[in-house]
Parts: sequence; structure tokens; C-alpha cells
Amino acid sequence: MKANIVIIPGDGIGPEVTEQAKKALNAVADTFNHTFLFKEALMGACAIDETGNPLPDETIKLCEESDAVLFGAIGDPKYDNDPTAKVRPEQGLLRLRKELGLFCNVRPVKAYDKLIKNSPLKEDRIQGTDISIYRELTGGIYFGTKELSEDGKVASDGCSYSVEEIERIAHLAFVAAQNRRKKLTLVDKANVLETSRLWRKVVTELSSQYPDVTLEYLFVDNAAMQLILNPKQFDVILTENLFGDIISDEASVIGGSIGLLASASVGKENALFEPIHGSFPQAKGKDIANPLASILSAAMLLEHLGLHDEAEAIDRAVQKSLELGITTEDINSEKSFSTSKVGDFIADYIQNQEDSDVNFQNIHMGQSTII
Ligand code: IPM
Ligand code: MG
Repeated sequence: MKANIVIIPGDGIGPEVTEQAKKALNAVADTFNHTFLFKEALMGACAIDETGNPLPDETIKLCEESDAVLFGAIGDPKYDNDPTAKVRPEQGLLRLRKELGLFCNVRPVKAYDKLIKNSPLKEDRIQGTDISIYRELTGGIYFGTKELSEDGKVASDGCSYSVEEIERIAHLAFVAAQNRRKKLTLVDKANVLETSRLWRKVVTELSSQYPDVTLEYLFVDNAAMQLILNPKQFDVILTENLFGDIISDEASVIGGSIGLLASASVGKENALFEPIHGSFPQAKGKDIANPLASILSAAMLLEHLGLHDEAEAIDRAVQKSLELGITTEDINSEKSFSTSKVGDFIADYIQNQEDSDVNFQNIHMGQSTII
């Protein structure tokens, strides 16, 4: 297959982690005889520095023409600490999601056996957790009318949802549940919010088209508690934009590190893949950030292109790196490997999967040229 992939490295650790994901994609291209053509584009604080605009038109155009986009991270402390800044890096990502119509954000959360001890949560509560969060991505309070009164004393953010916006993601979440454990939990705040009541109505009506899926409802405050108390109860979670943002960060604690969580943002015509973690400015340029979320996002990208074996090859390599402890310091503080070494290992494993485990044990012992 020939695919045009746009890479948006973005800010902070974005460039370091996407570089490792690109290594993995190149290893896949080599091993499975594909041609991936990469183009780089600007977005975020780096784009503001260079062009004054967090999302240059050229970036939108390149993304629209691509088969898939791989994005790193966005944000910079100089904007976080300045609430008066009119132009903000995050505006770039939000606008790109909107321009590309990426209404459905999928965030898988898994408790990897090897990392169970890394989670601050009790082992027996999280073992076997496997959740897929479907977060609506182009509506709700993120995109409502924003107002600040002239005297600067009153601010408001509007939240609205249409039936169509709810239906299109709900269908995808139901189908996902059908292909998994057949349970869908709608997370909302229907006891307070009008938008949430519309979500309940629309999703309940749609459920008759998916009789094999059990639909449950949870208020978001309770869902936040249940995710920590008993995460195994969840299969697919469907929720609106802001709630999805919050509970997916919370759910990342189950996996032991936010550095592991990948995501896919898909629309009718475009798709973008990104880690759920932020730009982690403290780690920028230090070669210590965990590249696995970006690498797993690349696996989701391949899945999206219909390359299932290829996506699995990346998943297996990630699994192997966790098994052998070839991981960054967020996972293994005693004997950690750098961002780029983890990326080298993953790429090497993709290309040499036939080799025995013994060779990889050697890598771990530092006997390979790649480590
Ligand atoms: C995410 C991020 C973004 C969001 C920010 C960077 C705008 O937190 O993708 O979860 O809030 O959607
Ligand atoms: Mg977030």
C-alpha cells in the first residue's frame, strides 16, 4: 500500500515521541512492503512562533490531502500562565479537529499485566480492565459561544449539541460495543444539563437498532468514582467532549502511566492519531519521555488504513518492550531507557520478530548495538 501520512510534531515532547512512532512506521513499511510518504506540518506554540498562527492554512491543506495524520502534543507554559493571551496553541488543535470533522475520539484504556504494579490503584481492582472511551470531539462546551463582559467580571461558555452530532458518534460506539463485550455506558449529567438529557433521549432511541448491546447510564460524577472503584465493569463508554477529556485522563491511571494512552480521532473523510498526554514541557529535549503512546497511536493509524497485521506487529513490539522492561523512566525508574532507545527497540523488534526471545534478552543486557 502507498499512504500519505502527515506528521505534526507540535510542542514540548511532541517531536521526540513522533520521531519514534515514525521509526515504527518505517519498520512496518520495510517489513510489509508498503510505501509511507511523510510530510511534516506546523501546529501549536511552535506554529505561533514561526507564523503567528497556531494552525497555518498550509497545515489544514496538507492534512486534508493526507490518508492519515500523526500528531504529537500541543501547549507551552508561556501561554498556560497567561490567561490574557489572545492567540493560544490549543486553538490550533481544536480548529484542526473541527476543520477535518474529527467528531469521534476513541481512547482505549488497558491494564497491561506487566505494569499492574505501576498503577497506584489496587491490583485486583484493575487487572483485566479493557475499556474503549468514545469521546465526542467537535461539539459541546469546547465549541460554544465564549463571552467575557466588558468589565472582565463575567465570563461564559455555551454548551450545545444537536441530534445529528449525538447520533453519528453513538452509532460508532454501538458498533464498537457489538464487536467487544456488548456493553455501552453513556456518561452524562442528565440530572442537571439539558444537553445531557438530549444525549439520553437520542442514545436510548438508537439502542433499539442494537438489541444485542446492553445500554447503561451513569452520571459523570459517579462515573469518575466508578472508574477508580471498579473499572472492570466498563466496556465501551460514550460521552460528550468535556466529560470525555476529564475521564480519559483519570482512566489513564489504570494503565500505570499516561505515557501509554493512544487515541484515534476520526471523521467521515479524515483521521488523526495522537497520544492523550500533553506536551510535558519539563521533559522537552531530554530524551526521557515515554514514546509508547505515540507508537500505539501509529498502530491505531495502521488499523484505520486496514493494515491489521501491521498494527498487531506494533502492538506485539510494545508488549515485548514492556515485558523486557525496555521502557522509559515513568514506567521503570530504576533501570530506564531513553525515548530514542525505546523507539529503536520497537522498530528493531518489528523487523526481527522471527528472532528468539533470547536475542531480546541480550538486548536487555545491553549486548545489542541498538541499546
Ligand atoms: C486532549 C487535550 C486537549 C483537549 C487540549 C490540549 C486542547 O487535553 O486531547 O485531551 O482538551 O481536548
Ligand atoms: Mg485531555
